[in-house]
This record gives sequence, C-alpha cells and structure tokens, in this order.
Amino acid sequence: MAEVCSIADLRDSARRRIPRAIFEYADHGSYNEATLRANRADLDAIGLRQRVLIDVSDRTLATTLVGEAATMPVAIAPTGLTGLFHRDGEIEGALAAEEFGIPFCLSTMSICSIEDVRAAASKPFWFQLYVMRDRGFAASLIERAKAAECSALVLTLDLQIQGQRHRDLKNGLTVPPKLTLANALDIARRPGWALSVLRGKRRTFGNLAERVPGGDSLTTLSQWIAGQFDPSLSWKDVDWVRSLWPGKLILKGVLDEEDAKIAASCGADAVVVSNHGGRQLDGARSSISALPRVVDAAGGRLEILFDGGVLSGQDVLKALALGAKGCLIGKAFLYGLAAGGRGGVLQALDIIRRELDVSMALTGTRSVQDVDNRVIAHP
Ligand SMILES: Cc1cc2nc3c(=O)[nH]c(=O)nc-3n(C[C@H](O)[C@H](O)[C@H](O)COP(=O)(O)O)c2cc1C
Repeated sequence: MAEVCSIADLRDSARRRIPRAIFEYADHGSYNEATLRANRADLDAIGLRQRVLIDVSDRTLATTLVGEAATMPVAIAPTGLTGLFHRDGEIEGALAAEEFGIPFCLSTMSICSIEDVRAAASKPFWFQLYVMRDRGFAASLIERAKAAECSALVLTLDLQIQGQRHRDLKNGLTVPPKLTLANALDIARRPGWALSVLRGKRRTFGNLAERVPGGDSLTTLSQWIAGQFDPSLSWKDVDWVRSLWPGKLILKGVLDEEDAKIAASCGADAVVVSNHGGRQLDGARSSISALPRVVDAAGGRLEILFDGGVLSGQDVLKALALGAKGCLIGKAFLYGLAAGGRGGVLQALDIIRRELDVSMALTGTRSVQDVDNRVIAHP
C-alpha cells in the first residue's frame, strides 16, 4: 500500500475497503450539504501565523479534557453504527483511544453495547445519550453507563428530529434497510469486509437490542428508533438527566450563543460546539465560525469542546486558538477504523498528533496550554 501521510489517504483506503453505502453514510451530510462544506471551507480559510527564532525544542501536547488527562487535545466522537465500519469497531476504537491516551465516546446507536466495550476496555470511556420518547429507557441507559463506570455522559441535543441524508436514501440505508442488487454486488466486491463484519457476532444496535421485541433484527430496531426521536425535548430534560447523572455532563450540539448561555446555567461541565458534522440542519453556520461566539457567551463557565470538519492537526490548532479546550473527531476516526481497525485509528491519531506538534512549533508555541488567538494570521 502507498505511504499513508494524511487523513485523506486513510479516507481513500476506507473507500476501497468497505461497502459504498457505509462509506457514504459517514462521508456525506444532510440535504445539499452546505453546512458539511462550510465546516471544511471555514477551517481552511483561517490562516496560521508563522513565527521564527523562538526556542520550541521542549514541546508538549498534554492537556486535560473535562478533568481527564489526555496526551493531546482530541477525543473520539460518538458515531452510530461504528461496528459496521470494522468488526467490533467500537471496541477497536476504545482500545485505540486507550492506547493513545485520549477519551473515547460510545454512541447510544453503537453496534457493541456499553457492557461489551466495558468488558474489553481497561479505562473508563464516555457515553453519548440520546433521550428518546421512552424516558424509562433513557434512564436505564444512564444506569448502565454508571454501572460501566463511564467517566462522562455526553448528551446530544441536536437530533430531536432527524435531518435527511439523500445518500442514505439512495443507497437503501433507510428504515427499514433495503438490500438492493447494487448493494449486494458492492458487498460481494469486498469479501474481506463481508467475511469479517457480516460473520461477527454483533450486527445490530447493541444497546437497544434487549429493550425491543425482535431487537436482534437491525430492521425492527431501526423502525423502533425512527419512532423514538422526540421533538418535545426541552431544557427541562437536561435538568432531568442532570438529576440522574452525578458525574461529568457534556452537552453536545450547541451552536448558538443564546443556547450557550442557557447551557452555562444548567449545571453542565462542558459543551461541544457542533452541528453534528453537517448531518442535521443544512444551512446552519459552520462549527468553527460558531466557536468564538459560544466561547464568549459561556463566559468561562463551561469547558468548550469543538467538532466539525477536523481532519488535521492544523485544524485542531485553529480550534484551540479560537477558544476550544479540545476537538472531537468523527469522520477522521471512521476513516482510520475502516482502513485498518485499531491500527488504522492509531494511525489517524498519530497523523493528527504529528501535524499538531509541527504546526505548534512553526507558530512558535511550546504547549497546547499556551495556544491562543495569537497563532491566527488575521487578515
Ligand atoms: C457516521 C456518523 C455517525 C454519527 N453518529 C452520531 C451519534 O450516534 N451520536 C452523536 O451524538 N453524534 C453522531 N455523529 C456526529 C459526531 O459525533 C460528530 O459530531 C461529527 O462527526 C463531527 O464532525 P466530523 O465528522 O467532521 O469530525 C455521527 C457522525 C458520523 C460521521
């Protein structure tokens, strides 16, 4: 295989290895994908300030994320259906994060269950919660996250109704999933993936399977989930979750300064400035353009995490410069996972680490703690 230099190389490799429907599920956004593109375009438009003759021989990327030590200011974002990108993908992701020394966040919509990941991992991980119509089920997920000693609960706020992703509809990745002739032929061309993932013992939504009658079928569960997103969710539900979860609470999907002000007053420890990777409201502002506004509105009362379009260490540096404490990576993680399982995730993390380290040095910065607005080249 050709030298892997960047996340783009891992993306190419992922595209070759996994069925098209799954690759496109990760790679695309909602509707016309304006927000997906804006996430990248606005990061690209930010320049960095080159500085010279500053002694940067002694550098460190070490930091803390929501109170936990991390070897760099990056965490793995929660992504649904991760176990379809690689057999036991959530376990592989958690073990890679553990080895690298950064947080891993497991999605409610994972293939491996909370208990599966807990049994395989030796360090605590974060759990992402969707509060569904069935509040009893949400409460039981919180109890399971407590029992698994999860170190933070990430409550996702921006999916009380689902945006449409055209690619998923066209590819038959719908509710219920459609096995089209095109999909069958595509899978047949990727026997390595088929033998590994389709023959694995985990092939449905691991956290939900026991709750729903017929829950061992992806189709039945997908139908149940589609009816479970709750448009009536409100800040009162955040209070309710806060009352059940005594540990660190991270609110994910805050993009607007008014919401940031409310979030700061409801007892959360951190927010993730996020538009769900351009997968929800198409036309929403890019995450990076929202970041400084949220930082201002939070006024130091919340730790600010960031996601949306992060594909390099330079992107991480820009987000830190605009006030984030750390970044979550969604697609960059999935490309690595699909390309090479745990080793591919480690490769992705190492690429980002090296890019961040070199970019810090070339902006004259020794520690991630010192990164601020001065590394940005203002027009
Ligand atoms: C395939 C995929 C599945 C996702 N599933 C979830 C999920 O289950 N829960 C959640 O809170 N966010 C989910 N997200 C959003 C990510 O957590 C994160 O906000 C986003 O991917 C960040 O943008 P990036 O992909 O450009 O890094 C998903 C993202 C992708 C790409």
